[in-house]
Amino acid sequence: MCGIVGAVAERNITAILLEGLKRLEYRGYDSAGVAVLTNDATLERMRRPGKVSELDAALAEHPLVGRLGIAHTRWATHGAPCERNAHPHFSGDIAVVHNGIIENHEALREQLKALGYVFTSDTDTEVIAHLLTHKLKDQPDLTVALKATVKELHGAYGLAVINARQPDRLVAARSGSPLVIGLGLGENFLASDQLALRQVTDRFMYLEEGDIAEIRRDSVQIWDITGKAVERQTVQYSDGAEAADKGEFRHYMLKEIHEQPAVVQRTLEGRLSDQQVLVQAFGPQAPELFAKVRNVQIVACGTSYHAGMVARYWLEELAGIPCQVEVASEFRYRKVVVQPDTLFVTISQSGETADTLAALRNAKELGFLASLAICNVGISSLVRESDLTLLTQAGREIGVASTKAFTTQLVGLLLLTLSLGQVRGTLGQGVEATLVEELRRLPTRLGEALAMDSTVEKIAELFAEKNHTLFLGRGAQFPVAMEGALKLKEISYIHAEAYPAGELKHGPLALVDNDMPVVTVAPNNELLEKLKSNLQEVRARGGELVVFADEKAGMTNGEGTHVVQMPHIHDILSPILYTIPLQLLSYYVAVLKGTDVDQPRNLAKSVTVE
Ligand code: F6R
Repeated sequence: MCGIVGAVAERNITAILLEGLKRLEYRGYDSAGVAVLTNDATLERMRRPGKVSELDAALAEHPLVGRLGIAHTRWATHGAPCERNAHPHFSGDIAVVHNGIIENHEALREQLKALGYVFTSDTDTEVIAHLLTHKLKDQPDLTVALKATVKELHGAYGLAVINARQPDRLVAARSGSPLVIGLGLGENFLASDQLALRQVTDRFMYLEEGDIAEIRRDSVQIWDITGKAVERQTVQYSDGAEAADKGEFRHYMLKEIHEQPAVVQRTLEGRLSDQQVLVQAFGPQAPELFAKVRNVQIVACGTSYHAGMVARYWLEELAGIPCQVEVASEFRYRKVVVQPDTLFVTISQSGETADTLAALRNAKELGFLASLAICNVGISSLVRESDLTLLTQAGREIGVASTKAFTTQLVGLLLLTLSLGQVRGTLGQGVEATLVEELRRLPTRLGEALAMDSTVEKIAELFAEKNHTLFLGRGAQFPVAMEGALKLKEISYIHAEAYPAGELKHGPLALVDNDMPVVTVAPNNELLEKLKSNLQEVRARGGELVVFADEKAGMTNGEGTHVVQMPHIHDILSPILYTIPLQLLSYYVAVLKGTDVDQPRNLAKSVTVE
């Protein structure tokens, strides 16, 4: 989503702001802007639609020099992505950048217009700028005026503000959109993600919900939601820097796909004993809480939701626990009936997805037994607000299309399944020991699947000219098919739909012809023969088939049927393995189509607005 960077220093900060924006560009990128207080105490800004490189080029022609400034990459919510709507927004002596959505912006806009304020953009953010200017009339101190302003805002915001009349400070407010202060020597910084500031510091202070911060060169003051002055802990951060580098790979997405054996290994580290999962990996209270669990409710969005759908098969089949899975944007607004002793599980790469966070907050009122977050970011809101946590160790994911986050989520969810089954004594004889062994072998199997890279690249040629694709799977492979379809549409813009293979004849078969390739995942399990019949139905209608099949499934190439042999794997782990060729397929199709693989159009990493 949008990104914020701010700085107050003794040196020119424009290059620091720009570098920060480049590092945040993966989050949101339809326009960018920077405002600095120049050395003659005037506010100047430069804004450009498009990538940060456009802003960079404009600044190379007309440099801005100053020691106090704010910058922003925007992902349009209110108003088209154009220069007029790009941040920072000005009002009088102040400049504002904003992440999030102000829900009462229309009412505020009318009030401010009636007071004579003139709007030059279609954004909700401009309302904040004018409201703040209005408050400054009564109370010239920027920090005090900001405190009064946020009281009138409904919605979500991470805000950074500078004032030409108070050149010594940058002020910030957080509610529903993360902000972090970067601490330097004689200079301080602000960003929506610490990655933006890794080039200037490794010491950070995370703002909490409702915090207001006043950041000067040599001091930081924070007030909490009640207005009380508070100290926030300083954290030294050493991980994540390497993720900002693509290394030998052409795209972050390809790098992240190839990192999967290593990050799955990392996700397992310290969580397995000889033959068991260590239940304490979920937190010291986990053994006691898990013993009480009788149901599981999983809530997530997008790719993370697909991981939850796979987990449902595991929880019911292996641990005998009823499980419901729902997308967060639906769950949060539904009147939910909660069964007694239900564990509420959220899954999220970022831990900042607005719908998932809101669902967690609602769940607290609904009488769930406890909440568990399976998340990739230890310092995220989701982790902070959950009772139990399992951190996936995927490392930073830069490509907008989620890959390694998904497979590590699946590993985390299998650990959860085995832990619940272990504590409740519901696992079959020897199941845990077998699956622990299989999990240990998983990184090697994933490496074998990745070795098929060039085979999948060749298959991708079948898709480059097509407009529609169908993905089929049965059982726990159905959510894998959904994830494959999501990847393809996200980065190649080809329309892709997923169906449980048995549903084909109930409607979608009507779509099948030789212009609609059908992709299928076919592990060697009890559904294989049924799946083979479904595939015959496709072939009989002239549909071209691409089948990722277990090497023991006895499937071979034929006319209009392209079979890619997959290494044999235990059926329970097959959703993790079969995800790999589908990720590679969408990647190579996108490369052939020449789309922006890492930053596909209209999308953003970490969706922090509703
Ligand atoms: C798809 C993708 C999204 C995210 C979704 C949830 O490739 O990345 O569908 O999975 O926006 O994000 P998190 O997992 O951060 O909550």
